[in-house]
Amino acid sequence: MKVSTALPVVAALAAVSVVYAAPLQRRAGVGNKKKMAETTSFDSSGAVYFLTNEPDVNQILVASINVDGTLNLDSAVEAGGRGSHGKSNGPDALFSQGSIKASKKGQVLATVNAGSNTISLFSIDPKDPTSLTPLGDPVSSEGEFPVSLAFNADGTRLCVLNGGTVSGVNCFKVDKKLGPVAIANSLRLLTATDALKGAQTPPAGPTNTASQVLFSEDGQQLIASVKGTPQAPGFFAIWSVAADGSLSKDFQKVAPAKGGALPFGMSVIPGKKALLATDPALGFDILDLDGGNKRSSANKIAGQAAICWSAFSPKTGNFYLSDVGMSTITEVHVDNNLNVTVVMEYPQLPGSATLDLDVATINGRDFVYVLAANATSVDVLAIDSPGAATKLTALNFASLAKTAGVTINPNNLQGMTTFTT
Ligand SMILES: *[C@@H]1O[C@H](CO)[C@@H](O)[C@H](O)[C@H]1NC(C)=O
Ligand SMILES: *[C@@H]1O[C@H](CO)[C@@H](O)[C@H](O)[C@H]1NC(C)=O
Repeated sequence: MKVSTALPVVAALAAVSVVYAAPLQRRAGVGNKKKMAETTSFDSSGAVYFLTNEPDVNQILVASINVDGTLNLDSAVEAGGRGSHGKSNGPDALFSQGSIKASKKGQVLATVNAGSNTISLFSIDPKDPTSLTPLGDPVSSEGEFPVSLAFNADGTRLCVLNGGTVSGVNCFKVDKKLGPVAIANSLRLLTATDALKGAQTPPAGPTNTASQVLFSEDGQQLIASVKGTPQAPGFFAIWSVAADGSLSKDFQKVAPAKGGALPFGMSVIPGKKALLATDPALGFDILDLDGGNKRSSANKIAGQAAICWSAFSPKTGNFYLSDVGMSTITEVHVDNNLNVTVVMEYPQLPGSATLDLDVATINGRDFVYVLAANATSVDVLAIDSPGAATKLTALNFASLAKTAGVTINPNNLQGMTTFTT
C-alpha cells in the first residue's frame, strides 16, 4: 500500500520539476562556461570565437591568441539558443559568413541562434577576451533562420540577416545593460525576391539562400548578399542607413557583374567604396558602390570548387578567400582601379573543409584564422608579406571538446571572428 501511494507522488513531483525546471535552465544557460583547458594565459593578445551550432544547444568555442599568433583552446560558452542545419549535406550548415561577430571598438560579441530565431549579445573583457558576459536576454531576430551579423564601425549598432521563410534584415542598438534593442524601421524583408521567395525554414541550399550582411565602410549603407543559381543569378540588396539607424524602405537591387551568380562572403575594400564578394559560381565578384556599378567585375579563379568566405589583411593589403570544396586559401589583390590579380594559393589539409575565416593583427603581425570544419581544427596562417603566407599551426579541438563534454559535429560548426586587445 505504502509503496503504491508513494510512487505516484514521486512521479508527480518529477513531472512538475521537468515542466518547470527545463525552461528555467535554458534561460539560465546563457553564458554558462565549460572550461576546456587548464592553462589560463593572462597575457593573451586576443581571442578567436566560433560556433558549435548544435541543434540542442548552440555553444561558442573560445580560444585565446598568444603573442606569437598561436592558439590556446579555452572554453565553451552557451550562446543561449539552438543551432540549425539547412537542408544540405556536409559542412557549412548556415550557408553564410558572419554567424558570430566581434567588435573591437564596442568590446562586444554577437551570435545567431539559427534554430531559435534569436541573436545573443555578450560583452568582451578587453583584459581577458576569453571572458564573455551576456548582455540582456537573447532576442528575436524578427525573422527565421538568422545566419549573419554585422556591427557598425564603433560597435554601437548591430544588424542581422535572416534566411528562412521570413528572410530579410533587422537592426538593433547595442545597449550595454539591456542587450540588443530593436531600432524602429529597420526590419526589411527579402521574402518577395525571386531568389528567396520559396525559402523554407530551414532553407535548402546553398543556391538561393541569404549569405551575409555588412555595413559599407562609411556606415551609410547596409548590404546583404543573396545567392541565386548560375541560370538565375542572385543579387546584392543595398539599403541607405539613416542617422538614427533606421533603413530606407526599399533596397537597391544590384546584380553581380556578368558571370557572377552566388554572392557569398563579403569584405569591404578599404578606401574604395567597393566590396569584394566571394562567388562559388566562378571565384569572386567586385561590387563598385560608387558611380553606378561601373567598375564591378566577376572574376574567375581557375580550379576553384566553392569559394565562399573572405577576409582582408591590413598588413599585406590583400584578401584571403577560402574554398570549402578544395580546402584551399587563395590570396587576391585588388588595385586602385579595382582591377584584380590572384596572388597565390595555399592548399590546406585535403578534405578539411575550410569555411569561415578572419584576420587578426597580433603584435604587429597579421594572421589568418580558418575554421577547417572537417578536421575539427582552426588553421593558423602567418601572413607577414604578400604572396608568402605560411602555415603556423592547426589547433585541433575535438579531443578537448570530448573531454569537457561539449558536443561538436563537423557538419554543424560555423563562424570565425577575432578580437584583439
Ligand atoms: C584597370 O581598370 C581600368 C578602369 O577600370 C582599365 O581602364 C584598365 O585598362 C585596367 N588596367 C589593367 C592593367 O587591367
Ligand atoms: C568531409 O569529410 C567527409 C567524410 O570524410 C567527406 O566525405 C567530405 O568530402 C568532406 N567534405 C569536404 C568539403 O571536404
